[in-house]
Amino acid sequence: MRIKLSDGRDLPIEMHKVRIVQQTTLPPAEQRLRAITEAGYNTFLLRSRDIFIDMLTDSGTNAMSDNQLAAMMVSDDAYAGGESFYKLADAVREVLGFEFTLPCHQGRAAEHLLAKVFVKPGDQVLMNYHFTTTKAHFELAGGTVHEIYGPDALKTDSTNPFKGNLDLQKLKDLIAKFGAAKISFVRMEATTNLIGGQPFSLENLKAVRAIAAANGIPVVLDASLISENAYFIKRREKAYQQTSVADITREMMGQADILYMSGRKSASVRGGLIATNIRKHFDALRPWLPVYEGFLTYGGMSSKEIEAMAVGIREMVDEAVASSSADLIEYFVNEMVKREIPAVTPPGGLAGHVDAMRFLPHVPQAQYTAGAMTAAIYLVSGARPMERGTISMDRDAKGNDVLSDLELSRLAVPRRVYSVSHIDYVVDRLAWLHKNRKLVKGLRFIEEPPVLRFFMGRLEPLENWGAKLVEAFKADFGPEV
Ligand code: F0G
Repeated sequence: MRIKLSDGRDLPIEMHKVRIVQQTTLPPAEQRLRAITEAGYNTFLLRSRDIFIDMLTDSGTNAMSDNQLAAMMVSDDAYAGGESFYKLADAVREVLGFEFTLPCHQGRAAEHLLAKVFVKPGDQVLMNYHFTTTKAHFELAGGTVHEIYGPDALKTDSTNPFKGNLDLQKLKDLIAKFGAAKISFVRMEATTNLIGGQPFSLENLKAVRAIAAANGIPVVLDASLISENAYFIKRREKAYQQTSVADITREMMGQADILYMSGRKSASVRGGLIATNIRKHFDALRPWLPVYEGFLTYGGMSSKEIEAMAVGIREMVDEAVASSSADLIEYFVNEMVKREIPAVTPPGGLAGHVDAMRFLPHVPQAQYTAGAMTAAIYLVSGARPMERGTISMDRDAKGNDVLSDLELSRLAVPRRVYSVSHIDYVVDRLAWLHKNRKLVKGLRFIEEPPVLRFFMGRLEPLENWGAKLVEAFKADFGPEV
Protein backbone atom coordinates (compact mmCIF):
# COMPACT_ATOMS: atom_id res chain seq x y z
CA MET A 1 0.00 0.00 0.00
CA ARG A 2 1.05 3.63 -0.52
CA ILE A 3 0.94 5.87 2.49
CA LYS A 4 1.33 9.64 2.39
CA LEU A 5 4.10 11.03 4.63
CA SER A 6 3.98 14.48 6.23
CA ASP A 7 6.58 15.77 3.72
CA GLY A 8 4.27 14.81 0.85
CA ARG A 9 6.16 11.69 -0.26
CA ASP A 10 4.36 8.39 -0.94
CA LEU A 11 5.91 5.48 0.93
CA PRO A 12 5.28 1.90 -0.23
CA ILE A 13 4.40 0.29 3.10
CA GLU A 14 4.10 -3.41 3.87
CA MET A 15 0.61 -4.52 4.94
CA HIS A 16 1.94 -7.67 6.59
CA LYS A 17 4.37 -8.78 9.30
CA VAL A 18 7.42 -10.90 8.49
CA ARG A 19 7.38 -14.02 10.69
CA ILE A 20 9.60 -16.48 8.78
CA VAL A 21 12.81 -15.37 7.10
CA GLN A 22 15.46 -16.86 4.86
CA GLN A 23 19.06 -15.82 5.51
CA THR A 24 20.93 -14.26 2.57
CA THR A 25 24.57 -13.38 2.06
CA LEU A 26 26.28 -10.78 -0.11
CA PRO A 27 29.04 -12.57 -2.05
CA PRO A 28 31.93 -10.15 -2.70
CA ALA A 29 32.65 -8.90 -6.22
CA GLU A 30 35.48 -11.41 -6.89
CA GLN A 31 33.12 -14.28 -6.05
CA ARG A 32 30.42 -12.78 -8.26
CA LEU A 33 32.91 -12.63 -11.14
CA ARG A 34 33.78 -16.31 -10.67
CA ALA A 35 30.08 -17.24 -10.44
CA ILE A 36 28.94 -15.35 -13.56
CA THR A 37 31.90 -16.71 -15.52
CA GLU A 38 30.94 -20.27 -14.55
CA ALA A 39 27.34 -19.42 -15.49
CA GLY A 40 28.36 -18.36 -19.02
CA TYR A 41 27.22 -14.77 -18.29
CA ASN A 42 23.66 -16.11 -18.11
CA THR A 43 21.92 -15.25 -14.83
CA PHE A 44 19.62 -18.30 -15.21
CA LEU A 45 22.69 -20.48 -14.62
CA LEU A 46 23.73 -18.88 -11.32
CA ARG A 47 23.28 -20.73 -8.05
CA SER A 48 21.20 -19.19 -5.25
CA ARG A 49 24.19 -19.22 -2.90
CA ASP A 50 25.94 -16.69 -5.15
CA ILE A 51 22.97 -14.27 -5.16
CA PHE A 52 22.19 -11.51 -2.66
CA ILE A 53 18.83 -10.22 -3.96
CA ASP A 54 17.05 -12.56 -6.35
CA MET A 55 15.22 -10.45 -8.92
CA LEU A 56 15.21 -13.05 -11.70
CA THR A 57 11.45 -13.47 -11.52
CA ASP A 58 8.30 -13.13 -9.46
CA SER A 59 7.30 -16.64 -10.55
CA GLY A 60 7.00 -19.10 -7.68
CA THR A 61 9.18 -16.85 -5.52
CA ASN A 62 6.54 -14.84 -3.66
CA ALA A 63 6.09 -15.01 0.10
CA MET A 64 3.05 -17.13 0.91
CA SER A 65 0.53 -16.08 3.55
CA ASP A 66 -0.10 -17.80 6.87
CA ASN A 67 -3.51 -18.87 5.55
CA GLN A 68 -1.98 -20.40 2.45
CA LEU A 69 0.52 -22.39 4.52
CA ALA A 70 -2.23 -23.48 6.92
CA ALA A 71 -4.39 -24.68 4.01
CA MET A 72 -1.53 -26.85 2.75
CA MET A 73 -1.67 -28.85 5.99
CA VAL A 74 -5.21 -30.10 5.30
CA SER A 75 -4.85 -31.11 1.66
CA ASP A 76 -6.56 -34.22 0.33
CA ASP A 77 -4.21 -36.42 -1.65
CA ALA A 78 -6.82 -38.53 -3.49
CA TYR A 79 -5.75 -39.30 -7.06
CA ALA A 80 -9.29 -38.60 -8.26
CA GLY A 81 -12.06 -36.53 -6.70
CA GLY A 82 -9.77 -34.92 -4.08
CA GLU A 83 -11.51 -32.32 -1.89
CA SER A 84 -8.65 -29.84 -2.46
CA PHE A 85 -9.69 -29.52 -6.11
CA TYR A 86 -13.25 -28.60 -5.15
CA LYS A 87 -11.95 -25.80 -2.93
CA LEU A 88 -9.99 -24.48 -5.92
CA ALA A 89 -13.02 -24.76 -8.21
CA ASP A 90 -15.12 -22.87 -5.59
CA ALA A 91 -12.54 -20.07 -5.44
CA VAL A 92 -12.46 -19.84 -9.25
CA ARG A 93 -16.27 -19.71 -9.36
CA GLU A 94 -16.66 -17.17 -6.56
CA VAL A 95 -13.72 -14.86 -7.31
CA LEU A 96 -13.35 -15.19 -11.08
CA GLY A 97 -16.85 -16.29 -12.09
CA PHE A 98 -16.03 -19.44 -14.09
CA GLU A 99 -17.97 -22.69 -13.78
CA PHE A 100 -15.38 -25.10 -15.23
CA THR A 101 -11.82 -25.37 -13.90
CA LEU A 102 -8.99 -27.45 -15.36
CA PRO A 103 -5.92 -27.48 -13.08
CA CYS A 104 -2.49 -27.85 -14.70
CA HIS A 105 1.04 -27.83 -13.44
CA GLN A 106 1.85 -24.25 -14.50
CA GLY A 107 1.05 -21.54 -17.05
CA ARG A 108 2.93 -23.00 -20.01
CA ALA A 109 1.09 -26.29 -19.54
CA ALA A 110 -2.15 -24.35 -20.02
CA GLU A 111 -0.63 -22.79 -23.15
CA HIS A 112 0.29 -26.22 -24.43
CA LEU A 113 -3.29 -27.48 -23.99
CA LEU A 114 -4.74 -24.36 -25.63
CA ALA A 115 -2.31 -24.75 -28.54
CA LYS A 116 -3.22 -28.43 -28.88
CA VAL A 117 -6.96 -27.71 -29.10
CA PHE A 118 -7.23 -24.30 -30.75
CA VAL A 119 -4.13 -23.73 -32.90
CA LYS A 120 -4.00 -25.65 -36.17
CA PRO A 121 -1.21 -25.40 -38.77
CA GLY A 122 -1.74 -22.17 -40.73
CA ASP A 123 -3.79 -20.52 -37.98
CA GLN A 124 -3.24 -16.96 -36.82
CA VAL A 125 -3.12 -16.05 -33.14
CA LEU A 126 -3.66 -12.39 -32.28
CA MET A 127 -2.47 -10.84 -29.03
CA ASN A 128 -1.47 -7.59 -27.32
CA TYR A 129 2.07 -8.98 -26.93
CA HIS A 130 3.68 -12.41 -26.77
CA PHE A 131 5.24 -14.14 -23.80
CA THR A 132 8.22 -16.44 -24.52
CA THR A 133 6.51 -19.75 -23.69
CA THR A 134 3.24 -18.59 -25.29
CA LYS A 135 4.89 -17.89 -28.62
CA ALA A 136 6.87 -21.14 -28.49
CA HIS A 137 3.75 -23.27 -27.93
CA PHE A 138 1.58 -21.53 -30.52
CA GLU A 139 4.34 -21.66 -33.14
CA LEU A 140 5.16 -25.31 -32.39
CA ALA A 141 1.48 -26.05 -33.10
CA GLY A 142 1.89 -24.42 -36.54
CA GLY A 143 0.34 -21.03 -35.75
CA THR A 144 1.60 -17.52 -36.49
CA VAL A 145 1.64 -15.00 -33.66
CA HIS A 146 0.62 -11.39 -34.37
CA GLU A 147 1.29 -8.71 -31.78
CA ILE A 148 -1.11 -5.83 -32.24
CA TYR A 149 -0.06 -3.22 -29.74
CA GLY A 150 -0.57 0.52 -29.80
CA PRO A 151 1.95 3.23 -30.76
CA ASP A 152 3.37 3.70 -27.23
CA ALA A 153 3.82 0.04 -26.26
CA LEU A 154 7.51 -0.05 -27.13
CA LYS A 155 8.33 3.50 -25.99
CA THR A 156 10.28 2.94 -22.81
CA ASP A 157 10.01 6.54 -21.58
CA SER A 158 6.27 6.90 -22.05
CA THR A 159 3.59 8.23 -19.72
CA ASN A 160 0.80 6.21 -21.37
CA PRO A 161 -0.94 4.45 -18.45
CA PHE A 162 -2.14 1.52 -20.59
CA LYS A 163 0.70 0.43 -22.86
CA GLY A 164 -0.73 -3.11 -22.81
CA ASN A 165 -3.81 -2.05 -24.81
CA LEU A 166 -4.50 -3.91 -28.03
CA ASP A 167 -4.82 -1.77 -31.18
CA LEU A 168 -8.47 -2.06 -32.24
CA GLN A 169 -7.98 -0.93 -35.83
CA LYS A 170 -5.20 -3.48 -36.37
CA LEU A 171 -7.48 -6.12 -34.87
CA LYS A 172 -10.22 -5.31 -37.38
CA ASP A 173 -7.67 -5.23 -40.22
CA LEU A 174 -6.25 -8.66 -39.36
CA ILE A 175 -9.71 -10.19 -39.05
CA ALA A 176 -10.54 -8.78 -42.49
CA LYS A 177 -7.22 -10.01 -43.90
CA PHE A 178 -7.25 -13.60 -42.61
CA GLY A 179 -10.96 -14.24 -42.02
CA ALA A 180 -12.33 -15.21 -38.61
CA ALA A 181 -12.13 -18.95 -39.35
CA LYS A 182 -8.33 -18.78 -39.53
CA ILE A 183 -7.96 -16.99 -36.22
CA SER A 184 -7.61 -19.35 -33.23
CA PHE A 185 -8.38 -16.65 -30.68
CA VAL A 186 -7.44 -13.20 -29.47
CA ARG A 187 -5.19 -13.40 -26.41
CA MET A 188 -5.05 -10.54 -23.95
CA GLU A 189 -2.16 -10.73 -21.50
CA ALA A 190 -2.77 -8.94 -18.22
CA THR A 191 0.12 -6.69 -17.08
CA THR A 192 1.92 -7.46 -20.37
CA ASN A 193 5.16 -9.04 -19.21
CA LEU A 194 7.71 -8.47 -21.97
CA ILE A 195 7.00 -4.80 -22.57
CA GLY A 196 7.62 -4.01 -18.92
CA GLY A 197 4.62 -5.34 -16.99
CA GLN A 198 2.26 -2.84 -18.63
CA PRO A 199 -1.52 -3.12 -18.10
CA PHE A 200 -4.46 -2.81 -20.48
CA SER A 201 -7.59 -0.84 -19.60
CA LEU A 202 -11.00 -2.36 -19.06
CA GLU A 203 -12.32 -0.08 -21.77
CA ASN A 204 -9.85 -1.65 -24.21
CA LEU A 205 -10.61 -5.20 -23.09
CA LYS A 206 -14.34 -4.60 -23.56
CA ALA A 207 -13.79 -3.17 -27.04
CA VAL A 208 -11.59 -6.14 -27.99
CA ARG A 209 -14.28 -8.52 -26.75
CA ALA A 210 -17.00 -6.75 -28.71
CA ILE A 211 -15.04 -6.97 -31.97
CA ALA A 212 -13.99 -10.58 -31.37
CA ALA A 213 -17.50 -11.66 -30.37
CA ALA A 214 -19.03 -10.00 -33.42
CA ASN A 215 -16.76 -12.23 -35.51
CA GLY A 216 -17.22 -15.39 -33.45
CA ILE A 217 -13.59 -15.38 -32.25
CA PRO A 218 -12.92 -16.43 -28.63
CA VAL A 219 -11.09 -14.10 -26.24
CA VAL A 220 -8.45 -15.84 -24.14
CA LEU A 221 -7.23 -13.94 -21.09
CA ASP A 222 -3.76 -14.72 -19.74
CA ALA A 223 -4.44 -13.86 -16.10
CA SER A 224 -1.03 -14.75 -14.64
CA LEU A 225 -0.60 -11.14 -13.50
CA ILE A 226 -4.29 -10.33 -13.13
CA SER A 227 -4.40 -8.70 -9.71
CA GLU A 228 -1.77 -6.13 -10.66
CA ASN A 229 -3.65 -5.26 -13.89
CA ALA A 230 -6.86 -4.85 -11.88
CA TYR A 231 -5.03 -2.63 -9.37
CA PHE A 232 -3.66 -0.46 -12.20
CA ILE A 233 -7.18 -0.11 -13.61
CA LYS A 234 -8.33 1.14 -10.21
CA ARG A 235 -5.43 3.60 -10.01
CA ARG A 236 -5.36 4.75 -13.64
CA GLU A 237 -8.79 4.35 -15.26
CA LYS A 238 -11.15 7.11 -14.20
CA ALA A 239 -14.36 5.09 -14.36
CA TYR A 240 -13.02 2.52 -11.86
CA GLN A 241 -11.46 4.64 -9.12
CA GLN A 242 -14.26 3.80 -6.68
CA THR A 243 -14.50 0.11 -7.68
CA SER A 244 -12.73 -2.58 -5.62
CA VAL A 245 -9.93 -4.68 -7.10
CA ALA A 246 -12.17 -7.73 -6.57
CA ASP A 247 -15.04 -6.19 -8.57
CA ILE A 248 -12.71 -4.98 -11.32
CA THR A 249 -11.27 -8.50 -11.56
CA ARG A 250 -14.77 -9.96 -11.92
CA GLU A 251 -15.62 -7.44 -14.62
CA MET A 252 -12.44 -8.31 -16.53
CA MET A 253 -13.29 -12.00 -16.32
CA GLY A 254 -16.72 -11.29 -17.76
CA GLN A 255 -14.97 -10.31 -21.01
CA ALA A 256 -13.09 -13.61 -21.40
CA ASP A 257 -14.31 -16.79 -23.04
CA ILE A 258 -11.36 -18.70 -21.63
CA LEU A 259 -9.03 -17.75 -18.82
CA TYR A 260 -5.67 -19.32 -18.16
CA MET A 261 -3.06 -18.46 -15.64
CA SER A 262 0.25 -19.31 -14.17
CA GLY A 263 -0.56 -19.56 -10.46
CA ARG A 264 3.07 -18.71 -9.71
CA LYS A 265 2.57 -14.93 -9.94
CA SER A 266 -0.51 -13.06 -8.63
CA ALA A 267 -1.73 -16.17 -6.78
CA SER A 268 1.64 -16.76 -5.04
CA VAL A 269 1.83 -20.55 -5.46
CA ARG A 270 3.30 -23.02 -7.93
CA GLY A 271 0.62 -24.25 -10.34
CA GLY A 272 -1.73 -23.17 -13.09
CA LEU A 273 -5.21 -23.51 -14.47
CA ILE A 274 -7.62 -22.99 -17.34
CA ALA A 275 -11.23 -21.90 -16.67
CA THR A 276 -14.28 -21.21 -18.81
CA ASN A 277 -18.07 -21.02 -18.74
CA ILE A 278 -18.39 -22.42 -22.23
CA ARG A 279 -19.14 -26.13 -22.18
CA LYS A 280 -17.82 -26.86 -25.68
CA HIS A 281 -14.41 -25.35 -24.87
CA PHE A 282 -14.27 -27.30 -21.62
CA ASP A 283 -15.23 -30.52 -23.41
CA ALA A 284 -12.57 -29.94 -26.07
CA LEU A 285 -9.79 -29.32 -23.55
CA ARG A 286 -10.75 -31.89 -20.92
CA PRO A 287 -9.68 -35.13 -22.66
CA TRP A 288 -6.09 -33.88 -22.98
CA LEU A 289 -5.65 -33.05 -19.30
CA PRO A 290 -5.02 -36.65 -18.14
CA VAL A 291 -2.79 -37.22 -21.18
CA TYR A 292 -0.38 -34.36 -20.50
CA GLU A 293 -0.94 -33.14 -16.95
CA GLY A 294 -2.74 -35.53 -14.62
CA PHE A 295 -6.27 -36.49 -13.69
CA LEU A 296 -8.96 -33.78 -13.86
CA THR A 297 -8.84 -33.02 -10.14
CA TYR A 298 -5.10 -32.44 -9.79
CA GLY A 299 -3.68 -31.74 -13.27
CA GLY A 300 -0.06 -32.33 -12.24
CA MET A 301 -0.18 -30.07 -9.16
CA SER A 302 0.47 -31.31 -5.65
CA SER A 303 -2.71 -31.22 -3.55
CA LYS A 304 -0.88 -28.87 -1.16
CA GLU A 305 -0.35 -26.32 -3.90
CA ILE A 306 -3.98 -26.70 -5.00
CA GLU A 307 -5.11 -25.80 -1.47
CA ALA A 308 -2.74 -22.83 -1.37
CA MET A 309 -3.91 -21.70 -4.81
CA ALA A 310 -7.54 -21.69 -3.67
CA VAL A 311 -6.54 -19.33 -0.85
CA GLY A 312 -4.16 -17.35 -3.08
CA ILE A 313 -6.90 -16.62 -5.63
CA ARG A 314 -9.14 -15.24 -2.87
CA GLU A 315 -6.28 -13.19 -1.37
CA MET A 316 -4.92 -11.75 -4.63
CA VAL A 317 -7.98 -9.55 -5.13
CA ASP A 318 -7.52 -7.90 -1.73
CA GLU A 319 -6.10 -4.45 -2.55
CA ALA A 320 -3.38 -4.78 0.11
CA VAL A 321 -2.12 -7.92 -1.65
CA ALA A 322 -2.69 -6.73 -5.24
CA SER A 323 -0.68 -3.58 -4.51
CA SER A 324 2.11 -5.23 -2.52
CA SER A 325 4.65 -5.46 -5.31
CA ALA A 326 3.15 -2.83 -7.67
CA ASP A 327 3.68 -0.03 -5.11
CA LEU A 328 7.25 -1.07 -4.35
CA ILE A 329 7.94 -1.19 -8.12
CA GLU A 330 6.55 2.33 -8.48
CA TYR A 331 8.97 3.52 -5.78
CA PHE A 332 11.81 1.60 -7.49
CA VAL A 333 11.11 3.11 -10.92
CA ASN A 334 10.71 6.63 -9.52
CA GLU A 335 14.04 6.34 -7.68
CA MET A 336 15.74 5.11 -10.87
CA VAL A 337 14.32 8.02 -12.86
CA LYS A 338 15.53 10.48 -10.17
CA ARG A 339 19.05 9.08 -10.59
CA GLU A 340 18.79 9.33 -14.41
CA ILE A 341 18.79 5.56 -14.87
CA PRO A 342 16.76 4.79 -18.02
CA ALA A 343 13.92 2.81 -16.44
CA VAL A 344 10.80 1.78 -18.32
CA THR A 345 7.93 4.16 -17.54
CA PRO A 346 5.26 4.28 -16.39
CA PRO A 347 6.02 1.79 -13.58
CA GLY A 348 4.45 -1.59 -14.33
CA GLY A 349 3.81 -4.80 -12.46
CA LEU A 350 6.17 -7.68 -11.69
CA ALA A 351 9.46 -5.77 -12.02
CA GLY A 352 11.40 -2.59 -12.45
CA HIS A 353 12.88 -2.68 -15.95
CA VAL A 354 15.98 -0.92 -17.26
CA ASP A 355 16.17 -0.04 -20.95
CA ALA A 356 19.57 -1.46 -21.87
CA MET A 357 19.70 0.30 -25.25
CA ARG A 358 19.47 3.66 -23.49
CA PHE A 359 21.81 2.54 -20.68
CA LEU A 360 24.48 1.04 -22.97
CA PRO A 361 24.04 2.86 -26.31
CA HIS A 362 27.56 1.77 -27.32
CA VAL A 363 26.66 -1.97 -27.20
CA PRO A 364 24.84 -3.04 -30.40
CA GLN A 365 21.90 -5.42 -30.25
CA ALA A 366 23.89 -7.98 -32.22
CA GLN A 367 26.14 -8.17 -29.14
CA TYR A 368 23.17 -8.68 -26.84
CA THR A 369 22.77 -5.34 -25.10
CA ALA A 370 20.32 -6.57 -22.45
CA GLY A 371 22.37 -9.71 -21.80
CA ALA A 372 25.47 -7.63 -21.11
CA MET A 373 23.50 -5.20 -18.93
CA THR A 374 21.98 -8.05 -16.93
CA ALA A 375 25.33 -9.68 -16.19
CA ALA A 376 26.82 -6.27 -15.33
CA ILE A 377 24.06 -5.54 -12.80
CA TYR A 378 24.76 -8.86 -11.09
CA LEU A 379 28.50 -8.14 -11.04
CA VAL A 380 28.13 -4.77 -9.31
CA SER A 381 25.32 -5.66 -6.88
CA GLY A 382 24.76 -9.38 -6.35
CA ALA A 383 21.16 -8.73 -7.43
CA ARG A 384 20.10 -11.16 -10.14
CA PRO A 385 18.04 -9.66 -13.02
CA MET A 386 16.75 -11.45 -16.12
CA GLU A 387 17.62 -10.65 -19.74
CA ARG A 388 14.53 -9.74 -21.76
CA GLY A 389 15.91 -8.87 -25.17
CA THR A 390 17.46 -10.54 -28.20
CA ILE A 391 18.82 -13.52 -26.25
CA SER A 392 15.17 -14.21 -25.28
CA MET A 393 14.28 -14.41 -29.00
CA ASP A 394 15.22 -17.57 -30.86
CA ARG A 395 16.86 -17.47 -34.29
CA ASP A 396 14.70 -17.52 -37.44
CA ALA A 397 14.47 -20.50 -39.81
CA LYS A 398 17.63 -19.31 -41.65
CA GLY A 399 19.62 -19.20 -38.41
CA ASN A 400 19.77 -15.42 -38.12
CA ASP A 401 19.32 -13.58 -34.85
CA VAL A 402 15.90 -11.94 -34.52
CA LEU A 403 16.53 -8.57 -32.89
CA SER A 404 14.09 -7.99 -30.06
CA ASP A 405 11.77 -4.95 -30.05
CA LEU A 406 13.22 -4.01 -26.67
CA GLU A 407 16.42 -4.79 -24.78
CA LEU A 408 15.40 -4.87 -21.13
CA SER A 409 17.04 -5.97 -17.91
CA ARG A 410 14.17 -7.05 -15.72
CA LEU A 411 14.57 -6.67 -11.97
CA ALA A 412 11.58 -8.58 -10.62
CA VAL A 413 10.05 -7.67 -7.29
CA PRO A 414 8.50 -10.87 -5.91
CA ARG A 415 5.48 -10.18 -3.73
CA ARG A 416 6.15 -9.46 -0.03
CA VAL A 417 9.79 -10.62 -0.19
CA TYR A 418 11.98 -7.49 -0.39
CA SER A 419 11.80 -4.08 1.28
CA VAL A 420 12.63 -0.45 0.54
CA SER A 421 16.22 -0.86 1.77
CA HIS A 422 16.85 -3.64 -0.76
CA ILE A 423 15.48 -1.40 -3.50
CA ASP A 424 17.57 1.60 -2.35
CA TYR A 425 20.70 -0.58 -2.45
CA VAL A 426 19.96 -1.82 -5.99
CA VAL A 427 19.25 1.72 -7.23
CA ASP A 428 22.56 2.89 -5.76
CA ARG A 429 24.51 0.16 -7.56
CA LEU A 430 22.63 0.86 -10.81
CA ALA A 431 23.62 4.53 -10.49
CA TRP A 432 27.28 3.52 -10.02
CA LEU A 433 27.07 1.23 -13.04
CA HIS A 434 25.52 4.02 -15.10
CA LYS A 435 28.52 6.26 -14.32
CA ASN A 436 30.87 3.43 -15.32
CA ARG A 437 28.78 2.12 -18.22
CA LYS A 438 31.57 2.54 -20.81
CA LEU A 439 33.36 -0.41 -19.17
CA VAL A 440 30.55 -2.75 -20.23
CA LYS A 441 30.89 -4.32 -23.67
CA GLY A 442 28.94 -6.99 -25.54
CA LEU A 443 28.65 -10.77 -25.32
CA ARG A 444 28.96 -13.66 -27.75
CA PHE A 445 27.46 -17.16 -27.57
CA ILE A 446 29.74 -20.08 -26.82
CA GLU A 447 26.91 -22.62 -26.39
CA GLU A 448 23.48 -22.04 -27.92
CA PRO A 449 20.43 -24.31 -27.53
CA PRO A 450 17.98 -24.39 -30.49
CA VAL A 451 14.82 -23.37 -28.59
CA LEU A 452 14.24 -20.92 -25.71
CA ARG A 453 18.00 -20.39 -25.77
CA PHE A 454 17.90 -17.82 -22.97
CA PHE A 455 17.38 -20.52 -20.37
CA MET A 456 20.56 -22.51 -20.94
CA GLY A 457 22.72 -20.63 -23.44
CA ARG A 458 26.29 -19.76 -22.40
CA LEU A 459 28.11 -16.61 -23.47
CA GLU A 460 31.44 -14.86 -22.95
CA PRO A 461 32.25 -11.15 -22.54
CA LEU A 462 33.99 -9.38 -25.41
CA GLU A 463 37.39 -7.94 -24.40
CA ASN A 464 37.09 -9.56 -20.95
CA TRP A 465 34.99 -6.60 -19.73
CA GLY A 466 33.63 -8.40 -16.65
CA ALA A 467 37.02 -8.54 -14.95
CA LYS A 468 37.70 -4.87 -15.77
CA LEU A 469 34.33 -3.81 -14.36
CA VAL A 470 35.03 -5.68 -11.13
CA GLU A 471 38.46 -4.00 -10.84
CA ALA A 472 36.82 -0.57 -11.09
CA PHE A 473 34.14 -1.58 -8.58
CA LYS A 474 36.72 -2.78 -6.03
CA ALA A 475 38.70 0.44 -6.46
CA ASP A 476 35.60 2.39 -5.31
CA PHE A 477 34.07 0.04 -2.71
CA GLY A 478 36.94 -2.20 -1.50
CA PRO A 479 37.22 -5.99 -1.72
CA GLU A 480 34.54 -6.88 0.88
CA VAL A 481 31.38 -6.00 -1.07
N1 F0G B 1 2.08 -16.02 -19.17
C1 F0G B 1 2.72 -15.00 -18.60
C2 F0G B 1 2.22 -13.61 -18.75
C3 F0G B 1 3.87 -15.25 -17.83
O1 F0G B 1 4.51 -14.22 -17.26
C4 F0G B 1 4.33 -16.57 -17.68
C5 F0G B 1 5.53 -16.87 -16.93
C6 F0G B 1 3.61 -17.61 -18.32
C7 F0G B 1 2.49 -17.29 -19.05
C8 F0G B 1 4.05 -19.03 -18.20
O2 F0G B 1 3.74 -19.50 -16.93
O3 F0G B 1 5.97 -19.98 -15.88
O4 F0G B 1 3.85 -20.88 -14.89
O5 F0G B 1 4.72 -21.78 -17.02
N2 F0G B 1 6.37 -16.01 -16.58
C9 F0G B 1 7.58 -16.26 -15.79
C10 F0G B 1 8.43 -15.02 -15.72
C11 F0G B 1 8.35 -17.46 -16.20
O6 F0G B 1 9.53 -15.12 -15.14
O7 F0G B 1 8.03 -13.95 -16.16
P1 F0G B 1 4.63 -20.59 -16.14
